[in-house]
Amino acid sequence: MTFTKINDDHLGKFRAIVGTEFVFTGRDDIENYSHDYTEDLKFYPEVVLKPNNTEQVAAIMKFCSEELIPVTPRGAGTGLSGGALPVRKGVILSMERFNRIIQIDERNQQATVEPGVINQVFQDAVMEKGLFYPPDPASRGSCHLGGNLAECAGGPKAVKYGVTKDYVLNCEVVLPSGEIIMTGANVLKNSTGYNLTQLIIGSEGTLGIITKIIFRLIPLPKENLLMLAFFNSAEKACEAVSAIFRAGVTPSAMEFMERDCIEYVMKHVDVKIPLKENTAAQLIVEVDGNDKDVLFKECEVISEILNQHECDEILFAESAQQKADLWKARRSAGEAVKTHSIYKEEDTVVPRAELPKLLKGVKVIGNKYGFRSVCYGHAGDGNLHVNIIKENLSDEAWNTQVPKGIREIFELCVSLGGTISGEHGIGYVQKKYLDIAFSKTQIELMKGIKNVFDPKGILNPGKIFPS
Ligand code: LAC
Ligand code: ZN
Repeated sequence: MTFTKINDDHLGKFRAIVGTEFVFTGRDDIENYSHDYTEDLKFYPEVVLKPNNTEQVAAIMKFCSEELIPVTPRGAGTGLSGGALPVRKGVILSMERFNRIIQIDERNQQATVEPGVINQVFQDAVMEKGLFYPPDPASRGSCHLGGNLAECAGGPKAVKYGVTKDYVLNCEVVLPSGEIIMTGANVLKNSTGYNLTQLIIGSEGTLGIITKIIFRLIPLPKENLLMLAFFNSAEKACEAVSAIFRAGVTPSAMEFMERDCIEYVMKHVDVKIPLKENTAAQLIVEVDGNDKDVLFKECEVISEILNQHECDEILFAESAQQKADLWKARRSAGEAVKTHSIYKEEDTVVPRAELPKLLKGVKVIGNKYGFRSVCYGHAGDGNLHVNIIKENLSDEAWNTQVPKGIREIFELCVSLGGTISGEHGIGYVQKKYLDIAFSKTQIELMKGIKNVFDPKGILNPGKIFPS
């Protein structure tokens, strides 16, 4: 596809649509929009536009469609698969001014929000009303809800409460043509036609621009208990995970961290975790609900299972501060590892009970191809983040050997009944591996859907599909 290079006439039209002060072309102004959190990748757009209402987005899309100008929608830029990178240049459509919580409907336990609202701002706002929006990606303090929809973000709470898709009832979407649609209805049940809402979620900004979201909310659980369990074997820790669920307990978080990851985190944030010499990994296990006695009983069951799996020590967080510190440590894992070295983050996911096989396989494959990985993640979901560290690897090894190893890791995931991304998306960096997860027929079906929504291919080009 040959796209049109943006000229002064195009800029004039953009200024007329969004206002002169919301059109940016200077190198310094667009620097922030040239990267997200993915590796060290950088792609400069030709222009950054910051609309603040649906009609402006519609006018931009209609014009870009007519002129064949590529458009890459962007939330907060915290993505880990390069979904918001303008790899074919053109327009970055920043949704940051769409930052209003339009309504929290307590009667129906629903909320209507704009996509540029920060996840945690929304969580806090509904919490004040005794309500709960569970999806909590590690970046929740800065990521946008629109981006969460685009990638179907998860987070630690997903293990009990589900991921972003489980809370979206309906959205307003601007199609590449500039037409505005609602995808569904504001209802908890809906068997009316194809599910356009769920099609948009996880479509990584390739089908339409999300301009409004209707979420369902749930009552806020009032109590929680947090345990920290240390293991001398990382594989044993992973084995304990599925055993806990089989014992009939569903924790509200079940997070795994390898020793290296914990050490990088302690260098990065001011939190002390009492690792012993032989500690190989830790599990963070949280239970929540409304009855403390029930939670204590669940913790007893969990402790028993942990001990059956050679757990070395179990600690309970004793104060709100200790809980907050532990979560701060866990949430900063990605950043902490990045401070140590550039890495490629793989978002592997397998059925929960296969997690030990996945972890073991990742290490064997790393040895075979000569790379080290630091692993952590949402163990209860079978979702293991494998951070492949560049450190002293040559560019040659980084660019040739590592991708071969990644391919093998992904093949292992699929052979275990899993897939190649649980919550970060395919975006730009994983598209060359899509063939591992899907057959040609499946990929052609998806391309057909893309073509129906975006026949000119202007929306977020260069993503998801292998080129
Ligand atoms: C996390 C992000 C990387 O779990 O998904 O920390
Ligand atoms: Zn994660």
